[in-house]
Amino acid sequence: MSRAAPIAMSSKRDRYAELARTLASLLESERDWVANLSNASALLMEELGDVNWVGFYLLKGGELVLGPFQGKPACVRIAVGKGVCGAAAARRQSVVVPDVHEFPGHIACDAASNSELVVPLTRGAELVGVLDVDSPSLGRFDDEDRRGLESIARLVIDASDVV
Ligand code: SME
Repeated sequence: MSRAAPIAMSSKRDRYAELARTLASLLESERDWVANLSNASALLMEELGDVNWVGFYLLKGGELVLGPFQGKPACVRIAVGKGVCGAAAARRQSVVVPDVHEFPGHIACDAASNSELVVPLTRGAELVGVLDVDSPSLGRFDDEDRRGLESIARLVIDASDVV
């Protein structure tokens, strides 16, 4: 009797590596910041799975201002220190929130969001914005997602002329 061969499942790390390759080729011939942020948000929305909002807030005049994104219309300005985005910006560290309803000061833009991951965008020591990803599922993001999306954020910054 033959046994079925195990189905080859790619790991989350492999999927992020593949996503990074796809993004790198998408951005390779263009350095325009807004164009690259736009295509990055579109690709992430298509490929991540189980997400309802993906986008960027850019630091302008000391606050985070809505940039290119995919998903429902969102709040336009977020003070550094406020909400999950503001916390990641203030700490200059990624913030993984398994349940946004438990996060003090969480800013609800889409009522469907239940978990969230925010990655700061830095150029050298300078904070230039954040990448924000929301999911309708609780606990959607883990450390592997954090590492994967930090690499994606770095790729977008390095491929663009940040303005
Ligand atoms: N939830 C975020 C606000 C941005 S929306 O999710 C698009 C926050 O608390 O910072």
